[in-house]
Amino acid sequence: MTASIVTLNSVDPDEDLIVRPPTSGIALRGTIRVPGDKSISHRALMLGSLAEGETTIAGLLIGEDPQSSAACFRKMGVEISELNSEQVKVKGLGLGKLREPTDILDCGNSGTTMRLMMGILAAHDGRFFSVTGDASLRSRPMSRVIKPLQQMGADIWGRQDNTLAPLAVRGRSLQGIHYHSPIASAQVKSCVLLAGLMAEGETTVTEPALSRDHSERMLRAFGATVNVDRDTHSATVSGGATLSGQSIIVPGDISSAAFWLVAGAIVPDSELVIENVGINPTRTGVLEVLQMMGADIEFLNQREVTGEPVADLRVKSSRLQGCEFGGEIIPRTIDEIPILAVAAVFAEGTTIIRDAAELRVKESDRLAVMASELNRMGAKITEHPDGLEIVGGTPLQGAEVDSYTDHRIAMSLAIAALNTRGKTIVHRAQAAAVSYPSFTSTLSSVIK
Ligand code: S3P
Repeated sequence: MTASIVTLNSVDPDEDLIVRPPTSGIALRGTIRVPGDKSISHRALMLGSLAEGETTIAGLLIGEDPQSSAACFRKMGVEISELNSEQVKVKGLGLGKLREPTDILDCGNSGTTMRLMMGILAAHDGRFFSVTGDASLRSRPMSRVIKPLQQMGADIWGRQDNTLAPLAVRGRSLQGIHYHSPIASAQVKSCVLLAGLMAEGETTVTEPALSRDHSERMLRAFGATVNVDRDTHSATVSGGATLSGQSIIVPGDISSAAFWLVAGAIVPDSELVIENVGINPTRTGVLEVLQMMGADIEFLNQREVTGEPVADLRVKSSRLQGCEFGGEIIPRTIDEIPILAVAAVFAEGTTIIRDAAELRVKESDRLAVMASELNRMGAKITEHPDGLEIVGGTPLQGAEVDSYTDHRIAMSLAIAALNTRGKTIVHRAQAAAVSYPSFTSTLSSVIK
């Protein structure tokens, strides 16, 4: 470990991350593990809370986002043991049996907590809930879940004409619907399907492209019937289901592994093995794009763990080429576009990312922020309404950049800084704790 290359100034209220690669350059080497998958961690806590009996969860992500989910369900009477990555126990209350909380449910920075939970709360007939989040979450669109829930008969009120949190929900008995979602969003799909489990009749969600299917897989594991039509990107559940407690093993998060895949690819003379990474095909767009760019990535030891495909991934540095991507691959690589933008900056030629306007309503406006912060380091990125055009191959210079309190931006900028001349300061780097609290220590451990 070369401690002086990466320093986290934790005395500073902004927790700046300082990256100072030596002029001789660095290499990244080692075998590492990434924290548990964030999407699967939320779902394990939520379905565990709604199931009859006990659920045990191994490999849970101990990040701020799952802590927000756990805190909300504890406030509604669910006993959840202290979160750790070994074993978490959830004593479920059964579908429709959450208690009315005596206080506001705070989702922190977590869009998944707020949007999935809205489907659950809306179906709790006769109970009243108020829901809020941090400044970022309070600016993110909630009408995408409020509208379908209202079609099911839900009573929801929100700021700015029912579009923004804080939200108030009065639980009602809901009717199943067929919802044609205008966006490919697993959060919208999961919200409506969760409400559908407690609604009368069948509920179907059809989306324009397939989004991550962890909810469908885990609902089946908990005993619900979920019918999926892959051709029309539709999923159907029926009301009156019962879920029973399960033993869940959460695989490592491919969205966190993506930082090491890009780091290993762009930093010369590097080789990293990332063990135990979830490779659900609705999440592997990042691997496809990196392979299209010429990255050297090998899949080792492929296996299935509690209904999710898993592998160890080996990456070796290589010369990357720019590429174009958009359309149906976007939902499968939605959270990895910031780090793919970093890969593109170090690739030969131009990369064009299209159809990614959804990035503007994530934890930050990820198109605007990645363009502005990488350009501060000397990159050549032009922002478009739905994407980025990145002219690669210009060496970067260290600069002061900001995470805009977005975890994936903080980590993407830190990886870019590894291949940069001079010192980079990433302001507000503590944001990484939302999904990857040990990011800085793993980074230090792989620098050789
Ligand atoms: C998530 C779905 C995605 C993703 C988010 C987690 C989930 O959001 O960006 O980080 O766990 O369902 P959308 O479904 O809104 O695209």
